[in-house]
Amino acid sequence: MEFEIVTGSVESLETDCLIVGVAPDGELAPSADLVNKASAGYLKEVLGDHNGKAGETLLLHKVPGISASRVLLVGLGKADERSDRNQLKIIRSIMASLKAIRCKTAVIALDGLESADQDLYRQLRHNTEWASAELYQYDATKSKKADPLNLESIAFLLSQDDAELGEFSISDGSAIANGIDTARELGNLPGNICTPSYLAEKALALAETCKELTTTILNEDEMEKLGMHSLLSVGKGSSEPSKLIVMEYKGGEPDQQPHVLVGKGITFDTGGISLKPGAKMDEMKFDMCGAASVIGTMEALTQLGLDLNVVGIVAAAENMPSGNASKPGDIVTTMSGQTVEILNTDAEGRLVLCDALTYAERFEPETVVDIATLTGACIVALGNHATGLLSNDDLLADDLLAAGEFAADKAWRLPLWDEYQEQLDSNFADMGNIGGPSAGTITAACFLSRFTKKYRWAHLDIAGVAWNSNGKSKGATGRCVPLLCQHLIAQVDDLTDDE
Ligand code: BES
Ligand code: MN
Ligand code: ZN
Repeated sequence: MEFEIVTGSVESLETDCLIVGVAPDGELAPSADLVNKASAGYLKEVLGDHNGKAGETLLLHKVPGISASRVLLVGLGKADERSDRNQLKIIRSIMASLKAIRCKTAVIALDGLESADQDLYRQLRHNTEWASAELYQYDATKSKKADPLNLESIAFLLSQDDAELGEFSISDGSAIANGIDTARELGNLPGNICTPSYLAEKALALAETCKELTTTILNEDEMEKLGMHSLLSVGKGSSEPSKLIVMEYKGGEPDQQPHVLVGKGITFDTGGISLKPGAKMDEMKFDMCGAASVIGTMEALTQLGLDLNVVGIVAAAENMPSGNASKPGDIVTTMSGQTVEILNTDAEGRLVLCDALTYAERFEPETVVDIATLTGACIVALGNHATGLLSNDDLLADDLLAAGEFAADKAWRLPLWDEYQEQLDSNFADMGNIGGPSAGTITAACFLSRFTKKYRWAHLDIAGVAWNSNGKSKGATGRCVPLLCQHLIAQVDDLTDDE
């Protein structure tokens, strides 16, 4: 499926389905108005009960006076309610209609939708990402594959003046959409397929597609030599070997310091000896969604072609109980030299991340952002809408919050005050790996902060946003690929601003 920009007059567009907008008071958007005039008032005549609510649709065949085979009228919602949420609703219902009529081509002529904070680039990029997301279908492990798509192209109608910016926008949008698809697919694959070795293979395959990208895999022996005993302690109970996956994208000047992304890649989290309860435990296959968003973002990056150096690191392991597994009370020495008392083997994410974060030092990073389905407490605090953000650097935190707003993939900052640090005190090691029942998301970040003192760092807890748990929509969301991509895009803009 391709996204395109078309220009020209709406009446003469040759397409299977032309999509135009209508407001709640029956007011037609400019393109819809042109179609109405070309059809001698036909649109107004049949508008009937369509009340213009965001996403409400009416499909019309054989509209006279125009070249398109069908017209899909879509409600835009009230002008003062033109939010990202409404926009998403509109795109979703357009895509549902396009899938139902099984047409090959469509042109979206949604002028009249602009609102103050919606520049064309942003709006069109969202439309591209969101339309593409509606076409994602998981069928990798079903014997009956999804019906092949009829849809070959979706075009956006723009004025000649806007066409160049539009091309730019759909190109970025398609790159990000592909990254989101990859993150969703990796997240949805079951733990018996998507193992640490599988993630490593995917990262190696991605490097084959792009000359700026190199992937290196560290095996358990190599990690042992580096002193990554904390990371290795998590996979000890599993027969799947742990992996450290390092993806280096060199799009910038050789001396430019890289932005490092570190993903939690627990391909299944049983809790280990501190075993989780059975209910919904299958969802712990999603405990590698941080890793998936790093790999997805690296893939998007190869297509965005940003002039930036970026390193993606994935700490991949499977957390299982067994005779070899770590036990509560075990003490491990991390790569940093600090010791950790493993008071709960289910707080394993921080144990793999801390060594990956120490490893990140060798890249002399400009910034480091880790992404992890780290704490159930984050779901209690923020629900399923916002990513939890904690950082040792206000500028980086603000950049990420802004990137999340722009990308409609929002984050919310929580404090990382020293007052919380003492919850990690241990009688037997430098720290424990849990901080007690209160402020679980913050104490998890406090733990990580002890390994990130040498650089500007932020932590994104995506436990609440990385997947949906309910019914037909159960599955990985691809968050926070949009936020991360926007963050990187903004870094390039900053560089050009400095010149
Ligand atoms: N992967 C989980 C966090 C999680 C739980 C994410 C449920 C999404 C839904 C993580 O490894 C974990 O088990 N965390 C524990 C930490 C606790 C033992 C301090 C938690 O949140 O209960
Ligand atoms: Mn756990
Ligand atoms: Zn986990």
